[in-house]
Amino acid sequence: MTMLPPPLAMLMELTHRCPLKCPYCSNPLGLDRARDELDTATWQRVISEAAGIGILQAHFSGGEPMVRQDLPDLIRHARTEGLYTNLITSAVLLDQRRMTALAEAGLDHVQISFQGAEPDMADRIAGLDRAHEKKLAAARLVREAGLALTINAVVHRQNLDQLPAMLDLAIASGAQRIEVAHVQYYGWALKNRAALIPTRTQLDEATRIVEDARRRLAGQLVIDYVVPDYYASRPKACMGGWARQFFNITPSGKMLPCHAAETLDLPFERVTERSVGAIWADSPGFRAYRGTDWMAPPCRGCARAEIDWGGCRCQALALTGNAAATDPACGLSPDHAMMADLAVAESAAASDNFAYRMIS
Ligand code: SF4
Ligand code: FES
Repeated sequence: MTMLPPPLAMLMELTHRCPLKCPYCSNPLGLDRARDELDTATWQRVISEAAGIGILQAHFSGGEPMVRQDLPDLIRHARTEGLYTNLITSAVLLDQRRMTALAEAGLDHVQISFQGAEPDMADRIAGLDRAHEKKLAAARLVREAGLALTINAVVHRQNLDQLPAMLDLAIASGAQRIEVAHVQYYGWALKNRAALIPTRTQLDEATRIVEDARRRLAGQLVIDYVVPDYYASRPKACMGGWARQFFNITPSGKMLPCHAAETLDLPFERVTERSVGAIWADSPGFRAYRGTDWMAPPCRGCARAEIDWGGCRCQALALTGNAAATDPACGLSPDHAMMADLAVAESAAASDNFAYRMIS
């Protein structure tokens, strides 16, 4: 029997509450309510159990994780367990008092999302007045506290013309790294795809800008680049492969192999019912697409089967109706042309209207 390697990272969605309403949010359409969130002691137990099975990184996310007043206690606990701690935040709630508390708790790294480089665009996408101004101030606090900073620039058809200015913003803020992340179409982003998906021309220009900036800023700024699957010819190894390196815990304690897994018809379990280690090792939801045994042609026997692990299960389900299908982002998928046609048709749409993310 092959030994199951330990996961690398756990992402904790501490809450689905958030002051922003970004239309590209990867959270599910059915958001958890505050009354259903795990309490502090349960999160601390979860962190200890996750450390016990060998994870190295604890990512604190949401929604907006800073809505939780116990965030410093959770970070401190993760550090006590020897984990690297990363806060994924909109930063609009990050003032000096809270920055000090997070730094004292031992936080290692902060990732701040930006919705554009200009306040008008950024605040409209975020659905919150003065959000951009608050983010810039928060980025300064992070650097003054001596913490590592990544700017997460989420790009799409409506803000791609601001990409050069977003790179400048990252330099000016003192970030060590920027993630230029084209929207990935899950959750609210899937619902708003027609208003967000870029044209092929926009994508090619963005890629050129990133490649040029990588040359120009080598040694000064690390630039990660995430392209939209819809124009790809090979899929991404989503989550590094289903249930191989990563798991996600929802605010109410459901443990998932990825943030969109609840769209699949699988029996996912809660950390309030079983331990993190037991769910990771043998929960049916985790075993369903782990490894390569579940694959059918063209993935079965493909030389890339253990490189991209067949791509994304959630995307396969969303676009083909079959979670076990080859990800249509793959040029070998019989559904590849449908996906590419969809991108061309939707990106040509005149409307920029989208639905803001909200708890119904
Ligand atoms: Fe990857 Fe499957 Fe495509 Fe092969 S056929 S490249 S394994 S998605
Ligand atoms: Fe679920 Fe890719 S988002 S497998």
